[in-house]
Amino acid sequence: MNILLLGSGGREHALAWKLKQSPKVERLFVAPGNAGTARIAENQSFKPTDFETVKQFCLAFNVNMVVVGPEEPLVRGIYDFFQNDTALQRIPVIGPSYEGAQLEGSKDFAKAFMQRHNIPTASYKTFTSATLNEAFAYLDTLTPPYVLKADGLAAGKGVLIINDIEEAKQELHEVLDGRFGEAGNKVVIEAFLKGIECSVFVLTDGDNYHILPVAKDYKRMGEGDTGPNTGGMGAVSPVSFADKTFMDKVEQRIVIPTIEGLKAEKIVYKGFIFLGLINVEGEPFVIEYNCRMGDPETEVVLPRICNDLVTLFEAVALGTLDNHTIIEDPHAAVTVVLASGGYPGAYEKGFPINGLDKPSLKDAIVFHAATRSDASGVYTDGGRVLSVSGLGCDVQHAQQRAYEVMGEISFAKMYYRKDIGFDL
Ligand code: AMP
Ligand code: GLY
Repeated sequence: MNILLLGSGGREHALAWKLKQSPKVERLFVAPGNAGTARIAENQSFKPTDFETVKQFCLAFNVNMVVVGPEEPLVRGIYDFFQNDTALQRIPVIGPSYEGAQLEGSKDFAKAFMQRHNIPTASYKTFTSATLNEAFAYLDTLTPPYVLKADGLAAGKGVLIINDIEEAKQELHEVLDGRFGEAGNKVVIEAFLKGIECSVFVLTDGDNYHILPVAKDYKRMGEGDTGPNTGGMGAVSPVSFADKTFMDKVEQRIVIPTIEGLKAEKIVYKGFIFLGLINVEGEPFVIEYNCRMGDPETEVVLPRICNDLVTLFEAVALGTLDNHTIIEDPHAAVTVVLASGGYPGAYEKGFPINGLDKPSLKDAIVFHAATRSDASGVYTDGGRVLSVSGLGCDVQHAQQRAYEVMGEISFAKMYYRKDIGFDL
């Protein structure tokens, strides 16, 4: 079959890498992809949010399945676009419907959904510029730090955690005043939860579900979890504190009520649910829902799944996921992101990347995140450039492998965290 994968990051290179292993795949297209996906698939230059071009491409190239990597096309309704088009209806889209994607697209929607279905999450209230005074009064009832969340998609920048009450009020005012554009028309204010975070991924056909290997993301730029938030500087799987007792609670209190809640509300969901969880003294709470896989978590989760991913996606489309079990690879995986110096602030790009073709890349996979290539070589093309995943019999060995392989790769102003996984 022919598959079209939408997106261009490390997550998409990892998805392409895994899809490509399936004997069922004839042609794999990635739009727009990067230099890494160009090596294993056929990159296409159109944007994932340009639905009309996606449609023309699917029809012209006889695409049999569309896999959506990032949230934006989902939140904009690509699933419904296919469903509502008689020529496209027969092509399964792996990802939730427009309404399902609002679990990520609107923090207020997600919080209200959790409240309706008794899913553990921080207590909250939602405000608009019309209720600014009520918002200030609500902040006064909370203890610091204060958590403010722009309702809509804000490129990972919409969550503010502030210690000082006056500063929190000032920031709240600015967000409601349009700092994040429309995404900030509503703001969720919620209680701060103290604990350790992990990322749980669920693959569902809307009826049945499977929980995938658990990962931990390292969001802060600096070692020891310091400095500004990023898209993620590394990830580890498995996660030692996500043991059976914890995961049983996650399944009973969060995963099942989420799937049942979607069903009860007739929200079509055939794809990944990403639960951003926090472990508060052994009890799981939902920090956020995402409607896609995580990046860089995908770069450690997929190498730990033995199943044919195309077969799983076919079962998602058919509603037969209950006929399959997830076969976990016992190896541990650690991925370290190589970023452009300056990221997540201003950085330069266009530097040549050396060492990508070293022969010793055994038990390691170099996933491209923001790269481009031409006849002369491969160049940096964004903030998070590569994600190097190492595999090993445990986290320590996987870590060693990742850092060893990274030592062979270089580009100007390369930055990476040296402590990914060392806390586990
Ligand atoms: P997000 O941009 O939605 O991934 O959120 C960024 C980060 O903010 C999360 O990964 C958490 O570390 C933190 N965060 C969000 N909500 C809370 C909360 N209620 N309590 C503590 N930390 C939070
Ligand atoms: N690594 C976090 C995310 O993908 O949102």
